[in-house]
Amino acid sequence: MTPSGPLSLVGVLLLGVVSSQTVDRSVEELTNKNTDFAARLYRAVASRTDDNVFLSTMALSTALAALLSATSGPTQDQLLQGLSLAGLDPQTLPGSVAANLKQGVAVLPSQTFQVSSSYQDLVRTKFGGYFQSLTFTEPQATTTINRWAQEQTGAKVQKVVTFLDPQTQLLLATVASYQSRFSPSFNASLTQDERFYVSRYQVVMVPMMFRADKYFLAYDRSLKAGMMSSSSSVAS
Ligand SMILES: *[C@@H]1O[C@H](CO)[C@@H](O)[C@H](O)[C@H]1NC(C)=O
Repeated sequence: MTPSGPLSLVGVLLLGVVSSQTVDRSVEELTNKNTDFAARLYRAVASRTDDNVFLSTMALSTALAALLSATSGPTQDQLLQGLSLAGLDPQTLPGSVAANLKQGVAVLPSQTFQVSSSYQDLVRTKFGGYFQSLTFTEPQATTTINRWAQEQTGAKVQKVVTFLDPQTQLLLATVASYQSRFSPSFNASLTQDERFYVSRYQVVMVPMMFRADKYFLAYDRSLKAGMMSSSSSVAS
């Protein structure tokens, strides 16, 4: 398979949702709808570029789901629609669905932005999130956010922001790192350097894993992505 960013993205995404062990109905429904949101978002982003695309749609839907609980009326309807969650009651949505995922969500208002204490509690309890008022005009705000990201991911993510607009009123931040074993696993002695296309014009040699077997394969024409099913997980 030709390696590329878009393909690995879809892999990360599906691995994340399928590997959760305790799947009850609401989680399963949310997982399906999140996957739908992810595919639509990926399609929209990927259709505008020929470069590799890497984005964590799961981190994005978690952050927007945390915001969702603070909204009502047309704003809530639009968020539900955007997230492919139309018809679901935000109060009954589970906070987080994926196992093996180190993930954090933060709701960071400016000092002058009023946020009810019940919403602050909800962010902390339901989403296990971080709530902190910041002074976005001071560089300390950047340091605070990046330190939070490091703590959430065991330092796998070092920096999520480099510059903050001093006029920011509310910042939703989310970080995620995911580590999982391939099943069945790859044989390390078969790993060899192969071409990876960073862009159409830039090629680098990277260690590439190989495995030969028979797999069920599906191709999504609109996503231009191949999906492969194996015994315990889905990858592409
Ligand atoms: C890995 O591949 C090498 C070379 O083909 C082979 O000798 C070895 O037995 C394989 N190891 C496993 C665990 O399959």
